Amino acid sequence: MRKQIAAANWKMNLTLQQGEQLLDDILSKPHSLKDNQEAIFAIPAPYLSMAQSKLRNKEHVFVAAQNCYSKKSGAYTGEISVDMLSSLGVQYVVLGHSERREYFNESNSFLADKVNICLENNISPIFCCGEPLDIREANTQNEYVGKQLKESLYHLTEAQIRKIVIAYEPIWAIGTGKTATSEQAQEMHAFIRKNIELVYGASTANSISILYGGSVKAANAVEIFSQTDVDGGLVGGASLIADEFVAIINALK
Ligand code: PGA
Repeated sequence: MRKQIAAANWKMNLTLQQGEQLLDDILSKPHSLKDNQEAIFAIPAPYLSMAQSKLRNKEHVFVAAQNCYSKKSGAYTGEISVDMLSSLGVQYVVLGHSERREYFNESNSFLADKVNICLENNISPIFCCGEPLDIREANTQNEYVGKQLKESLYHLTEAQIRKIVIAYEPIWAIGTGKTATSEQAQEMHAFIRKNIELVYGASTANSISILYGGSVKAANAVEIFSQTDVDGGLVGGASLIADEFVAIINALK
């Protein structure tokens, strides 16, 4: 079975002390992660070291960065390199979140460079894609998401793309309380899988975890995750509340 993943995206929230407390609260609550399941915490860069030491020995639990730069090292003040992440033991990085695309002008080709440097350094990207509301209303979301995948991922070899986790996040559902229906999520996830199949074949397409993101919470996680092509979620707001996130972990297939 494909890996089922509950990924927390804290975004730019919480102090170090609050973050530590939240991880302690989550870990202390009953949660079970089977062999095919993972919980990933995408937390602010200054706390990666804290989280890494706290979670290092926990089975099926991983730390992710929320971003990294496309260059190996050098005069890029304020940026975070993959070597820095590797030296902390971080194994995942979220790339192409819609907030980075919108506020920091990250393009598909810039993201392709970031994907490359991560894979070259054994870090798995959680690659985000998803359409804004006007595209959904025009019913051209498949073309839009297909282009994001093509321009950032389809230069990869089959072995490389198997290391990617995809997160489909319709922008109109992020932080709005407006979730895509489970049918809308399944429809897009099936489209993404088919799209990958056309380039890489069915076995690769079936091996890639595709997470849904956009107002996932305890109350809708079971329903959304039960869809055939939905392999868990990337969770913003609800990941900041211990009980909510634990329930989301426990909702994984
Ligand atoms: P949300 O955010 O769960 O608060 O909608 C999801 C995300 O942006 O990853």
